[in-house]
Amino acid sequence: VQAPHLFPSDFLWGAATAAYQIEGAHLKHGKTLSVVEKNMNKNYADPSIASGHYQYWEKDIALMRELGLKAYRFSISWPRILPDGRGKINQEGVDFYRKLINKLKEYEIEPIVTIYHFDLPQCLQEEYGGWSSRKVIDDFEAYCQVLFTYFDDVNYWLTINEQSNMFQLPYLMEFNPDIPLEKQKYEMNHIMTLAHAKAIHLCRTLLPNAKIGPALGIIPNYPASPKPEDILAARYADEMRTYLFMDLYMKGEYRPFVWNYLVENGIEPTVEPEDMARIQSAKPDFIGINYYQSRVVKYIPEDTDKKELKLNYDGKDDDTQYDNIPGLFEGMTNPFTPKTKWDWEIDPIGFRYILNELYDRYQIPLMITENGLGTLDELTADKQIHDQERIDFLRDHIRQLQLAIKDGVEVWGYMPWSFIDLLSTSSGFRKRYGFVYIDRDDKDIKTLERIKKDSFFWYQKVIASNGCQL
Ligand code: BG6
Repeated sequence: VQAPHLFPSDFLWGAATAAYQIEGAHLKHGKTLSVVEKNMNKNYADPSIASGHYQYWEKDIALMRELGLKAYRFSISWPRILPDGRGKINQEGVDFYRKLINKLKEYEIEPIVTIYHFDLPQCLQEEYGGWSSRKVIDDFEAYCQVLFTYFDDVNYWLTINEQSNMFQLPYLMEFNPDIPLEKQKYEMNHIMTLAHAKAIHLCRTLLPNAKIGPALGIIPNYPASPKPEDILAARYADEMRTYLFMDLYMKGEYRPFVWNYLVENGIEPTVEPEDMARIQSAKPDFIGINYYQSRVVKYIPEDTDKKELKLNYDGKDDDTQYDNIPGLFEGMTNPFTPKTKWDWEIDPIGFRYILNELYDRYQIPLMITENGLGTLDELTADKQIHDQERIDFLRDHIRQLQLAIKDGVEVWGYMPWSFIDLLSTSSGFRKRYGFVYIDRDDKDIKTLERIKKDSFFWYQKVIASNGCQL
C-alpha cells in the first residue's frame, strides 16, 4: 500500500503554457488579433513571434516527451479557430491543434486544454464591447461547441483562466472610459461566470466523460499584524479576491459580504432571473489553481485615495500595484518571505496553506495549473542555463504540495509555469519561466533555438521518481 503522503501513481506531472505567449504567427495562417495581444506591454517583445511554437511545435513536443511529461496544459486561441469571433471556422487553426493533440496522445501526454486564456477576438470587442455584453455568452458557447466537436478526445478542459485576475489587470480586458470602472468590472465578472457555466453545461452534453473546471489565480492574504482591523482586512481580501469566485463556481451564489459591498457602492452586476440557477447547476469537476505568491494586507481607511487602474500601459512592469480597496484592505510587503526579481513573495508554505483552505471549504479535487519562478536566465558561453534558483523554487513548492496531499487534499496534477520560455504579458521575454530556454530576447529574435536548462534535467528526475527524488 502506498504511503498516503506520496504522490498518487496516476499523478499528472505536467507543464503549462498559453497560446498568445508561445505561438507567434499572431496575424498569420488565418488568425486575427486578440484583446490581450492588442493591449499587452509592447515596450518589450510583441506577440508576432513569441516562442515560435507555431513553427516549432514538433520540436517542442519531442522535448516534452524527453522530459517525461504525463500532461501538458496549453490554451487554444479563439481568434485562430474563429477569426471573426463566430461563424466561419479557420480550418488551418483547427488542423494545427489537431496535429498537436494527436502527437501528445501518441506520446501518452495528457492534453489539458484551456478554452480561454485572455484572448477574446478583438473584433468582438469592437462589435459589442466584448465581456461587457451578454452577447459574448452565445459566442463563447459557439466557440466551445467547435472545440468539443473537433477535439472530442480531450479529457481535461479548463473553462476560463484567472477570472479573478482578469479584471484587475489593464491589459487583459478592455474597459469603456465612459462607464465607472468598478461597475464594469463586476458586470463583466458576472457575464464571464455565465459563459463559464455554459461551457460546463455544453461539455456535460457533448463530452459526458470529460472533466472540466476553471483555473483561478489564487493569492492567500495574511494579516499584517494581530491588530483586529488587520485580521479583518485579510478576511475581506480573501472574500473579494478568492471566495467571491470560488462561491460563484462552486455554489452558484454571491457571498453576502461581497454582494452587500457591491450594492452599498452601487456597483453590483445585473442579475437576471435565471442566472443564478444556471450557474448553480454547472458545478465543476475540479478547480485549477494558479499559485505564485501570498500577500500581506493591512486595513486602510475609506477616505484613502484609491490608486486608479490605468487603462493603458505606462511602461511599468508592476501589475499588482492597483490591488487595494479603501475601507477594506491594502497589500504590502511581507518582511518574512524572500522576493523574486519582480518582487513577488516566494512562499511555498502559503501554497500548502491555501490548498488546505480551499479543499476544506469546498471538498473538490484541485489541479495545480500554474506555479513557477519568473526570473532573468543567463545563457553561458557553452550554451547552458544554470537556473538553480528555479529548481529551489519548484522543489520547495513540490515539497509543500506533497505535505498538502499528506494533509488530505486531493490533487490531480502539477503543471508548472512554464514548459518553454514565453512572452510574459507584463514583462516581455526578459522574465523567463521555462524548463527550456528560447534563444531570443525582447528585440532580437536570434535563432529561437531550444536549449534545456538545468531545471529540465532536474524535473525529469522528479517525474521519473514520481516526486520521490527532489
Ligand atoms: C498568470 C497567467 O497570471 O501568470 C500567465 O495565467 C502569466 O499567463 C503568469 O504569464 C505569470 O505572469 P507574468 O506577468 O509574470 O507573465
